[in-house]
Amino acid sequence: DWTSDTFIDATVSELKAKIGTDKVVMGLSGGVDSSVAATLIHRAIGDQLTCVFVDNGLLRKNEFEEVLDSYKHMGLNVIGVDSKQRFYDALAGLTDPEAKRKAIGRVFIEVFDDEAHKIDGVKWLGQGTIYPDVIESVSVKGPSATIKSHHNVGGLPDFMKLSVVEPLNTLFKDEVREVGRALEIPETIIGRHPFPGPGLAIRILGDITEEKVKTLQEVDHIFIQGLKNHGLYDQVWQAGAILLPIQSVGVMGDERTYERVVALRAVGSVDGMTADWIHLPYDFLGKMSNEIINRVKGVNRVVYDISSKPPATIEWE
Ligand code: XMP
Repeated sequence: DWTSDTFIDATVSELKAKIGTDKVVMGLSGGVDSSVAATLIHRAIGDQLTCVFVDNGLLRKNEFEEVLDSYKHMGLNVIGVDSKQRFYDALAGLTDPEAKRKAIGRVFIEVFDDEAHKIDGVKWLGQGTIYPDVIESVSVKGPSATIKSHHNVGGLPDFMKLSVVEPLNTLFKDEVREVGRALEIPETIIGRHPFPGPGLAIRILGDITEEKVKTLQEVDHIFIQGLKNHGLYDQVWQAGAILLPIQSVGVMGDERTYERVVALRAVGSVDGMTADWIHLPYDFLGKMSNEIINRVKGVNRVVYDISSKPPATIEWE
């Protein structure tokens, strides 16, 4: 029967035998899967593994710095790449959700390919693919899937000619978490809510600007910190804020305001295929609304999404 320790021992030996003295490159997302996969590979081959963590400018507030720091503390050989401007440039003027996803996927591959080229003689591409990704024919989750969905676009980047190593491709999510805990990966990474590869770009409805990203990061930060401070974070499968493409009238002092509206979303789910909106306490929602409107410039209204999936999806785009 399966235990995380026997899995780790067996996988580390397998990886050692398979990879030998070769070099491996791997993209990290800050999520559970890629972090656990990288830690396993690192345990097997040490600094023959180079990890690449890309700041696409669409992550949560402070996420890039904090996660990069955790990776370094975990001993991973990780290169942090600030590519914010490249992503913002590629997204400029795009409003269609799929067009935004494609632009982000394309730039991610370009950035990753640039970095992979800097590593001499790399032979393998590490990926955090887990079992449900293998059985789902079309998967949209994580940077690994971003790579897959672009597989047949022609003119493959060089790193795609690498052999793929996927140490988690027989595991379910809860097993990945168990392995991660046994590997002593920080709980801030293991217990983290899922976060989409395209990040805040699909939570800003309409076109993306740096200023909108900053606004949404502030709102999202207040909400997520609020969930943590009130002991609600672990009762929610995924949560976040959405910046709506409308303005509403408000009043502040004697002044009429005409500012942005944000939606908060929190859902319960097992695998993201179906989801129920969470009945967050009214007191908590009221507190979040006040805090957001008082602290985030340019936002004068907060609404709460009470739609389940299906028929709504978790993301709004
Ligand atoms: P939906 O909105 O389809 O989301 O109900 C289900 C789960 O998938 C995530 N999601 C994505 N993840 N790239 C990703 O890596 C994407 O383009 C994408 N779209 C949705 C979403 O956050 C939720 O966990």
